[in-house]
Amino acid sequence: MVEALPRAEDVAIAPLPPSQLPEAVGLLARAFRDNPLNRAVARWRGARARQRINEHGMRAHLPVALARGRVLGAQREGVLRGLLVAALPWGYPFPPPPWGARLRCLVGQGLGVASRWAQVYAALDARHPRDEHWYLGTLGVHPDFQGQGIGGALLTRWLAEVDRDGLPAWLETDRDSNLGFYGRAGFSVAEELEVLGVPVWALRREPRAGAPPGAVE
Ligand SMILES: CC(C)(COP(=O)(O)OP(=O)(O)OC[C@H]1O[C@@H](n2cnc3c(N)ncnc32)[C@H](O)[C@@H]1OP(=O)(O)O)[C@@H](O)C(=O)NCCC(=O)NCCS
Repeated sequence: MVEALPRAEDVAIAPLPPSQLPEAVGLLARAFRDNPLNRAVARWRGARARQRINEHGMRAHLPVALARGRVLGAQREGVLRGLLVAALPWGYPFPPPPWGARLRCLVGQGLGVASRWAQVYAALDARHPRDEHWYLGTLGVHPDFQGQGIGGALLTRWLAEVDRDGLPAWLETDRDSNLGFYGRAGFSVAEELEVLGVPVWALRREPRAGAPPGAVE
């Protein structure tokens, strides 16, 4: 018997409640654990160490995004499966986390990892658009649930808000396999760069005609 794939409409998307922060930290750490940039930043370390390194980073930065940006969670069967983090127009970059959180992150990740992340962010920042736009900082789905429409559903929900504002959108990805996914949503490659020896694509989506002001889904 063929098992039916869960349908995208079974996914509930809503702003992440602060009570789900710990779950969100673990989920994003896992979603990005094996991405090329995460491997390059963590050098020589195995999967468990990369997971921990990512958790330290997310624990420091996600609360700031929750307070200052847009964080959408995708739940299926009451469990968080995917997460989208975006900076609001003129909201990039997010302010740094409080000192205590930065210090815990630095100690947890180690100086080498933290300085390589700083290099990555500086390289991306140098190409970042200076006009008014929405910025997709992070979109991650737990690997066990990828390819089931969860990432697409999160992206569609966020883009509806971008289009209501009639603004461009910007993101970066370190996987060429993601280019088709974003291309179907209207993004195209604006810049190609190499960071820590890893190819990275910066993608831009031009403004679309927004719905009349006040028209909310
Ligand atoms: C990219 C990502 C968010 C897509 O979410 P998703 O729920 O798997 O996406 P959907 O099911 O809606 O769409 C699947 C598409 O994503 C792409 N994709 C990327 N990784 C995939 C995976 N592991 N399994 C299946 N599809 C994947 C495919 O191109 C697929 O396109 P197709 O419809 O032509 O087959 C998710 O794969 C992910 O978290 N990847 C790791 C983290 C990452 O790279 N995030 C993006 C950085 S900006």
